[in-house]
Amino acid sequence: MILTIKRAILGGVTSCFLAASMVQTVSADEREIIWVSAEEKSVLLAEMRSFLEATHKILEGSLADDMEVIEQAARPVGVKMMRATPKALHEKLPAGFTAIGPKAHRGFEGIADEAVGMGDREEVLQQLAELQKTCIQCHNLYRLEVK
Ligand code: HEC
Repeated sequence: MILTIKRAILGGVTSCFLAASMVQTVSADEREIIWVSAEEKSVLLAEMRSFLEATHKILEGSLADDMEVIEQAARPVGVKMMRATPKALHEKLPAGFTAIGPKAHRGFEGIADEAVGMGDREEVLQQLAELQKTCIQCHNLYRLEVK
């Protein structure tokens, strides 16, 4: 009986401690800040939203086995968009960012090429999963702040 109570108390203490340390990790934002202008921020975030939309359409296109949908979703966010980054903004981006960014654009370009080429949806999904690693990697490293 006493042992059970002891365990319950200990358990409670442990989970409180765990909860507290989890909250701490969630609230501590250790991502590197990239200082940009308000306009640059809105350009970058608009690009990001089109990334999200493209990944969704690629997934839908894959489910429907519709290669045209996939190509049309992936091509505009491929290397063409990468080349459109304004020079002034490019100079503010840290080396890590400019290394990962092109990987994402090339990933989309590769998916568009696969769609018009072999048109294998398994391969498209494989490449999408690979591409999404670049989203996660970059999001874990950086955040934007306006100066
Ligand atoms: C080279 C870096 C990088 C890559 C690659 C990247 N992102 Fe982002 N993304 C960012 C940064 C930085 C932010 C802003 C985060 C912040 O300030 O908290 C962001 C924000 C976003 C947002 C929020 C947009 C808004 O309006 O608030 C979405 C959605 C997003 N990214 C989707 C994606 C998707 C999907 C991919 C992959 C296909 C991707 N991103 C790849 C850096 C990147």
